[in-house]
Amino acid sequence: MLSITNMLFNMQILDGIATSNVIKSRIKQEVDALVQSGKRRPHLAAVLIGDNGASLTYVGAKVKACEAVGFESSLIHKPADITQEEVLGIVAQLNADDRIDGYIVQLPLPSHINETAVLLAIDPRKDVDGFHPENVGRMALNLPTFLPATPYGIIQLLEHYKIETSGKHCVVIGRSNIVGLPMGILMQRNTYPGNCTVTIAHSKTRNLKELTLQADIIVAALGRPEFVTGDMIKDGAVIVDVGITRIVDETKKSGFRLAGDVHFESVSAKCSAITPVPGGVGPMTIASLLMNTLQAAKG
Ligand code: GUN
Repeated sequence: MLSITNMLFNMQILDGIATSNVIKSRIKQEVDALVQSGKRRPHLAAVLIGDNGASLTYVGAKVKACEAVGFESSLIHKPADITQEEVLGIVAQLNADDRIDGYIVQLPLPSHINETAVLLAIDPRKDVDGFHPENVGRMALNLPTFLPATPYGIIQLLEHYKIETSGKHCVVIGRSNIVGLPMGILMQRNTYPGNCTVTIAHSKTRNLKELTLQADIIVAALGRPEFVTGDMIKDGAVIVDVGITRIVDETKKSGFRLAGDVHFESVSAKCSAITPVPGGVGPMTIASLLMNTLQAAKG
């Protein structure tokens, strides 16, 4: 049932499936044009180490999305006991392979592998995840680069729905290298979407609710299901939910349901716009990775 506030604000669902479909059809048109002009299809490779269930799902979705837009894709799946040297060997091969435009090494890596060493070994020109320190630096300085897919997807979703950001207070909850840190950088840049006053909150933040109650935009990326509740947000806030966790639910046939970092029911009664889980940030992340790969292919 819609609450009174909710009706006043005409609450909007920021639909990541519909928006990513618009982006993917634009990419497909560009691929068709490339192929018609005699060029080869963009080619994305994904390196997956071990059998982490979530990573298997994410990489599977990325490979499937490549097919949908007409990209070539390669999956390099290795067992969890692979050595660091072997991983670096794969990275060196991908750097040298002219048929590969861009590639990702799915994170997290097993604990015996030094993630920084692997990310540093990726050729920044093929780093379509935007995780290489050179690309992170370029992003911070607003120079041309590959933006990390999840924050890039969120930016594109805000843009698609013409969400006002200039002068707004954006509270990002979470400071991971993949989401929280780049999200904060992008939201404070002098561009649209951007020009926010940004607060990055994290596990040591003491007055979180005081901060979120002041937020015009909240990006929840802490990985704790249903952490952000209605009492933590102000009326009319824009809510971006990056979390996606399986939680036990006996009422479901599968025995589980997917929950975001936001308690949808209480928050959607007060906010002006919200991303659903699933169907919000996730599909946008994939569409952004495809955009980066197309950019890499075009050189
Ligand atoms: N693990 C969680 N998100 C991502 C992502 O966007 N890229 C990679 N490589 N690993 C991830």
